[in-house]
Amino acid sequence: MKIVFRENGSIGVETNGKYVLRVGETETVIEKPKFSLCRCGHSKNLPFCDSSHKEFGFIAPAAEIELE
Ligand code: FES
Repeated sequence: MKIVFRENGSIGVETNGKYVLRVGETETVIEKPKFSLCRCGHSKNLPFCDSSHKEFGFIAPAAEIELE
């Protein structure tokens, strides 16, 4: 699994092909190899990024984490 902190943007997560989303007591298995999480706090679709960070001029450095 890889986590990519995009410069001035979201947190990209590369999965093994699917992930489980838990919101309250609801659990959904989503088959998708990649998704983007908000780290600016302005998304209207939290926890996911909706590109609002561009509108708010979010600034943050790039980084990458790889989990083995
Ligand atoms: S990082 Fe994209 S909307 Fe927050």
